[in-house]
Amino acid sequence: MLNLYPLIRPVLFQIDPEQAHGLALKALKAGIMPAQDPISDPALEQTLWGLKFPNPVGLSAGFDKKAEVIGPMFKFGFGFVETGTVTPKPQHGNPKPRVFRDPANNAVINRMGMPGAGMTAYKDNIEKFLSGKNRPPGVIGLNIGMNKSQTDPMKDYAVLIKMLAPMADYITINISSPNTPGLRDQQVPEVLAELMDTVRTELAKSCGDHTPPVWVKLAPDLSEKQQEELAATAISAKIDALILTNTSLERPDTLSDGFRDETGGLSGEPIFEQSTQVLRNFYSLTKGQIPLIGVGGISSAEHAYTKIKAGANLVQLYTGLIYKGPNIVHDINSGLLTLLKADGFTNIAEAVGTEHR
Ligand code: FNR
Repeated sequence: MLNLYPLIRPVLFQIDPEQAHGLALKALKAGIMPAQDPISDPALEQTLWGLKFPNPVGLSAGFDKKAEVIGPMFKFGFGFVETGTVTPKPQHGNPKPRVFRDPANNAVINRMGMPGAGMTAYKDNIEKFLSGKNRPPGVIGLNIGMNKSQTDPMKDYAVLIKMLAPMADYITINISSPNTPGLRDQQVPEVLAELMDTVRTELAKSCGDHTPPVWVKLAPDLSEKQQEELAATAISAKIDALILTNTSLERPDTLSDGFRDETGGLSGEPIFEQSTQVLRNFYSLTKGQIPLIGVGGISSAEHAYTKIKAGANLVQLYTGLIYKGPNIVHDINSGLLTLLKADGFTNIAEAVGTEHR
């Protein structure tokens, strides 16, 4: 199919990034954003926690905050779609403008502050998708976070689990967005262990024996000591997977003037090395015992493959979609098939963590 994104992108890039995103969502809902057909190949499939991932490339949280375009995203060929971050109550987030592009570096800075319509509207959207006919193959993740006004985070995570977990293939606990004051404070071993206790208790109440796996999403800005402590906590608290990583507070010298000075989380190619190093460290620290999801700066099959060899079972992306358009999913999956074959692997799982052997 003809790739229309090179024609659409200059128009979208004329507008404020958040408005462009709103337009893209409208087009997706209206079904007028074509992409190449998804790649389907047994070499890309994995089953984890009993969930069948048709391929390892997922949509990262933040793009489909309200769970409005899950279907169109599966049509693009994503193997899994993570919706949210959703908070219990609706909230506006930070004043606009709050998303900034740096096309010279394929980068974005955002200080959204987790705006959203709250968990009731989000739940309605998920239910609408799940009740539709012919659900496409693919896994749905629900990424949950606390309201800015909440002083006791456990309360928000508990209420979100109660309402949403029964509909989730997996749940992500977001404790790493840099724009919600206090959120990253949960990245302390004792606090995270307590949070996981709360989550497990609520899951047992709301889902009984059919509890979805719990993934925890961490920041790339953790010191080596913090990484060591959190890896130990992840094992002892039986966290099912770690997403590495969220956006970064780093500002590499290569960023364009003006853009560099914006407050918020940096994403896209300039965080590739930093987020991959954190992933690599966690694979070593956990000795490959916990599935890892590699995120940060992926815009090619080579990027995705590097994360997989560094220890990721699955990868996710967001900023790459802004710069490369929807065909990025097809291109990465088709490139991965070539890379796997060249290395003599018959399935993606065989490549996970090979860099460490
Ligand atoms: C994000 N990201 C994000 N993450 C999350 O857990 N909850 C969220 O609500 C958001 N919101 C959000 C908005 C915007 C505009 C961007 C660019 C990013 C982080 C995202 O999921 C991902 O972890 C990082 O962006 C790094 O991956 P990429 O973008 O470099 O592929």
